[in-house]
Amino acid sequence: MHTSAEPGDGVASPLLAHGVSIGYPGRTVVSELDIEILGGEFTVIVGPNACGKSTLLRALGRLLQPTEGRVLLDGQAIASYSTKEVARRVGLLPQSPITPDAITVGDLVARGRYPHQSILRQWSVEDAIAVEDALAQVGMSEHAERMVDELSGGQRQRVWIAMSLAQQTPTLLLDEPTTYLDVAHQIDVLDLCSQLHEEGRTLVAVLHDLNMAARYATRMVLMSEGSILAEGAAEDVLTTELLERAFGLKARVIEDPENGRPMVVPLDRRRRKVSTEGAA
Ligand SMILES: Nc1ncnc2c1ncn2[C@@H]1O[C@H](COP(=O)(O)OP(=O)(O)O)[C@@H](O)[C@H]1O
Ligand SMILES: [Mg+2]
Repeated sequence: MHTSAEPGDGVASPLLAHGVSIGYPGRTVVSELDIEILGGEFTVIVGPNACGKSTLLRALGRLLQPTEGRVLLDGQAIASYSTKEVARRVGLLPQSPITPDAITVGDLVARGRYPHQSILRQWSVEDAIAVEDALAQVGMSEHAERMVDELSGGQRQRVWIAMSLAQQTPTLLLDEPTTYLDVAHQIDVLDLCSQLHEEGRTLVAVLHDLNMAARYATRMVLMSEGSILAEGAAEDVLTTELLERAFGLKARVIEDPENGRPMVVPLDRRRRKVSTEGAA
């Protein structure tokens, strides 16, 4: 198997994109980008709206085919795998998944088991256990019989996460998994991600909340206009200079009092205006 990490550290790269350009008809969004997702890392991708985060994630999950360059999954061209084989190796939770009509929570989560089934191996006890476990992990067990479209946005998001968990892939790509959630449920989902990571899964998540990103990521990637502007430890990525370059945001970076990680505090323009006026 192909391993492209440093010699001797024994870390394989489940996903590697080399020189990829990705886009939509008539439009290139990501150009000639290289990214290596190291096994066992919790990589968090951040960047301004429309910079290409979801586009990149779709290419890593083979929902989009790059127009240039290549994506390797476990060392082999991702295009060369069967659809089910890709889905057994990497799960992708899209940013705005579309709920099928009139489906129960249990049935939606059960769809995550599809890649594990075949004509010879139909629904089994193992599948039922995977669905139950996934629902329990997101705290939705008691809602298994409910219709998905009756749930709140946050509950629905947790059901989608459960579907990805039921897929039981070693690598999981999550596009803004916390977006519809209140702060307590955001922490729940990120703690769950962190637990999955500790259990050995490779995680890649797109997050908007920079402070949550810094808190949970073992590695951060900052994107801007279809390219990677910086990657590495949160301290190296969330700097005042890079925040200004990527987001046009003026901010202070302080230490998170909880854990010493970087914490982004945007400057309060109103307060500054008032104090300057006061001084004049
Ligand atoms: N299906 C699509 N067809 C055409 N353009 C798209 C499509 N999806 C996204 N885009 C465009 O590609 C750019 C990057 O989008 P996206 O990857 O979703 O950004 P991000 O996730 O960083 O907010 C945006 O300008 C967006 O409008
Ligand atoms: Mg997006």
